[in-house]
Amino acid sequence: MLERIEQIKKEALESLQKVQDEAALEQWRIAHLGRSSPLMQVFSEFGALPKEERPRIGQAANQAKQVIEASFSERAQAIQEMKLNRALTEDTLDVTLPGRDFRRGRLHPSTQTMRRILAILAEMGFQVFTSREVETDEYNFQLLNFPPHHPAREMQDTLYIQAEGRGDNPLLLKTHTSPGQIRSMRYFAALNPDNPPPIRIALPGMCFRAEQITARSEVQFNQVEGLAVGEGITYADLKGTLADFARRMFGQNARVRFRSSYFPFTEPSAEVDVECFVCGGKGCSVCKQSGWLEILGCGMVHPVVLQNGGYDPRRYTGYAFGMGPERQAMLRYRINDIRYFWGNDMRFLEQF
Ligand code: DAH
Repeated sequence: MLERIEQIKKEALESLQKVQDEAALEQWRIAHLGRSSPLMQVFSEFGALPKEERPRIGQAANQAKQVIEASFSERAQAIQEMKLNRALTEDTLDVTLPGRDFRRGRLHPSTQTMRRILAILAEMGFQVFTSREVETDEYNFQLLNFPPHHPAREMQDTLYIQAEGRGDNPLLLKTHTSPGQIRSMRYFAALNPDNPPPIRIALPGMCFRAEQITARSEVQFNQVEGLAVGEGITYADLKGTLADFARRMFGQNARVRFRSSYFPFTEPSAEVDVECFVCGGKGCSVCKQSGWLEILGCGMVHPVVLQNGGYDPRRYTGYAFGMGPERQAMLRYRINDIRYFWGNDMRFLEQF
């Protein structure tokens, strides 16, 4: 029996030397320490031994088991180390390699220009008021003093959304930011109907028109509208404000000129040109040799519009203006085709 134990131990230790990986180690463990291993067989036969032999054989068997188990843990640790060393030498990491570049996001040129305009207007005391994209004919036209069937409506080819069941007040996509004038005036007037507060706000937003898409016209574009209403506001305030805006937007030497024009919601109305910042007014291809670039429409808020907004025109006056960020971006960066703005061409967008 003692010899048998010795033999079992010897075989176990010898075969353990050949074990090289975790899978083989597990097989070895089952074969030599598992429930049906020769060693466990010895233990199960133990009860059949004569009493006087039991201590010696028991001791030998226990010793053999301890030795085999110790060798097993040693081998297991050695295999772990081998595995780690192999990983360290094979999966080398070259810390001197340059990092991989990733694509950084940027703001759309239209958003950049929009934010610049709003930042300047904010410095001048104009607070942003956001209005809606889906409007009614009433707000987009009627309350702004566009009578039904008035030819001025045709300046703005409207995208209608729903006409059925709405009489002469169809739903539409707003064609300009001017309906925000009525919405904001009504909002502020409602705060104190007998004594509406003075307001000075900027209305940014996307506008939509059923245009033939060409290099110069798109079906969607942004506008930023300015509106100031209060007591004693005059045309001089409008001129001073826009001259100041132009200097902040286009540079300290920027000059503006006012050409009289027509809009139903302002009286008098004007269009504003800024001296061409490309050639400084000498004449170039951007300003078509005129030395001037048109940047916005403006005027004194029409009494009917003030009235519709809840501001008594006998007491209040106001001015308004509306400009297009895309148009200003085109002038500034000399972009010659408006279709680039919504074309989602990375080669264009990455330049800003
Ligand atoms: N709403 C006009 C347009 O889209 C632009 C405009 C002109 C806005 C004069 C104004 C203004 O506030 O006073 O063509």
